Amino acid sequence: MSIWDVCRRIAGVALDNPLFSSLISGLDHRSENRMSELGMIAHAFQFARINSVRGDYFEFGLWQGKTFRYARRMKLRYHLNQMTLWGFDSFEGLPRSSETRDNIWAPGQFRNPEDQLRRALKRAGFQDSEFELVPGFFCDSLNGALHHRMAGRTAAVVYVDCDLYESTRDVLRFVQRYLLNGSIVCFDDFYCFKGAPDQGEQRALREFLQAVPEFSFIPYFDYGPVGKSFIVRRQEQNAQNSAKG
Ligand SMILES: C[S@@+](CC[C@H](N)C(=O)[O-])C[C@H]1O[C@@H](n2cnc3c(N)ncnc32)[C@H](O)[C@@H]1O
Repeated sequence: MSIWDVCRRIAGVALDNPLFSSLISGLDHRSENRMSELGMIAHAFQFARINSVRGDYFEFGLWQGKTFRYARRMKLRYHLNQMTLWGFDSFEGLPRSSETRDNIWAPGQFRNPEDQLRRALKRAGFQDSEFELVPGFFCDSLNGALHHRMAGRTAAVVYVDCDLYESTRDVLRFVQRYLLNGSIVCFDDFYCFKGAPDQGEQRALREFLQAVPEFSFIPYFDYGPVGKSFIVRRQEQNAQNSAKG
């Protein structure tokens, strides 16, 4: 028997072993190749690096910080040293939603107090200088005072993971002034509500694009079981760039 036959035998036995296959399955779920939310974030950061899109990372909906922590890893991997990581959350979980048809979530779900998240981020190596957390329900917290605090900021990557129509509507209204040509906007729950175009994040985006025709959202990736991302184009900025050119 050749060495290859021996290797094949061992691999066959290992693959049949439940412990080994659950290890593989765990790795698969965290793998960027599966085009999970983590893979999506990796692509978005690399896109910002390749295209020199200069701006921060905004995440709306943090819960226990899984995607937020991964965004920091990608900031380090792609040497986006100037990037600040902004996290926005009620820290009280989901608000009540007006949409009940096919809604799989409940008010208060994903509650995680701010101090707990801060401790988890510190344990993961976050330095105070590299992140900002903005507490409160978006209908209150995404206000003029916050625009003042964020003056001069731009968004290279926006991660919208707040599940519901109203939450996403408030996010898009707030975030529009920070978007650039080449900003990536990811919607983690785009195809929730059984994919209904008149519900959830899909509805919020459609209404936003109708209300603000200056923006085009170019489809970028479908990811995970229910996510979708877009590349932002702004007519005003396109016109300015052509005038310069
Ligand atoms: C699914 S969890 C986020 C998961 C997280 N990105 C991760 O990958 O671990 C959704 C989060 O959105 C927040 N959220 C949803 N709607 C909100 C709103 N209107 N205002 C503030 N936070 C909201 C909830 O508190 C919750 O933490």
